[in-house]
Amino acid sequence: MEKIYKYIEDHATPQGEALDWIEKQTHIRTNHARMLSGHLQGELMRILVQISGARRILELGTFTGYSATCMASVLPEDGHLDTLELNDELEDLILEGFEKGGVEDKVQLHIGDCKETLVRLRSEMGLGAVGSDSSADTVDTSKLYDIVYIDANKREYCEYYELVFDMVRSGGLILADNVIWDGKVCQDPLPQDKQTLSIVKFNDMVTNDRRVESVILPLRDGLNVIRKK
Ligand SMILES: C[S@@+](CC[C@H](N)C(=O)[O-])C[C@H]1O[C@@H](n2cnc3c(N)ncnc32)[C@H](O)[C@@H]1O
Repeated sequence: MEKIYKYIEDHATPQGEALDWIEKQTHIRTNHARMLSGHLQGELMRILVQISGARRILELGTFTGYSATCMASVLPEDGHLDTLELNDELEDLILEGFEKGGVEDKVQLHIGDCKETLVRLRSEMGLGAVGSDSSADTVDTSKLYDIVYIDANKREYCEYYELVFDMVRSGGLILADNVIWDGKVCQDPLPQDKQTLSIVKFNDMVTNDRRVESVILPLRDGLNVIRKK
C-alpha cells in the first residue's frame, strides 16, 4: 500500500514552494503535523475549486493554513476565502504562510470558536438561527459560499453541517475531512469514543439527507464530497 501511495504522490502535480514551506514549518513549529491535509488532498481541492468555478470558500479548521493556501491559490482575483481557527497560537505561522503563498489579500482568518464565528457570519449574510425561516429578501445571496470545507472538531461535525448548510449556494459543495477516521467508522464492535460516534452520525446524516448527493473518497483519512442539489 505504501508503494502505491508513493507512486500516486510521485504522479500528482508538485505542491510548490509555499506549500513546501508551510509543511516544513508545521513539522518544526507544531507537534501535530499529521493534521495537515497534505499534498494529494490539497491537489484534489485545488482541482475542485477550479472546476466548480468557486469564488467564495469557507473553511472550518485552518491549522497552519495548508488547505486554505491550496484553495485560495486558485481562486480568481476577486475570490475570497474565510477560514476559522480556534488556536490563536497558530496565527503568526498561518499569516506568514498566506504571505508566502501570495494569498493574503484573498483570505480572512477568523480566530475563535468556529460555531460562534459561524453564527456571526450567518447574521452578516442575513441568515437567522438554524431552522428559522430566513426570508429570501433578507439573505445576501452574493455572500453564499461555493465550497465549505469542514475540518475542525470531529465531535461537532453534525452541528457544523446544520450551521453551514444554508450558507452554501445550491449546486455548491460541502467537503468533510477525516470521515473514515482511521477505519474506526466501520470497526466491529464500533469504538464508543465521542469522535468516532460523531463521525458515524455525520456520515449517516449526510447519506440520509435528500437535499444532497455525496460520495466518500478513500483518500488519506476519507473525504466526504457532498453536493447541495
Ligand atoms: C485537522 S486540523 C485542520 C487542518 C487544515 N484544514 C489543513 O488541511 O491544513 C483541525 C483544526 O481545527 C481547529 N479546531 C478544533 N476545534 C475548533 C473549533 N471549535 N473552532 C475552530 N477551530 C477548531 C484545531 O485547532 C485545528 O487547528
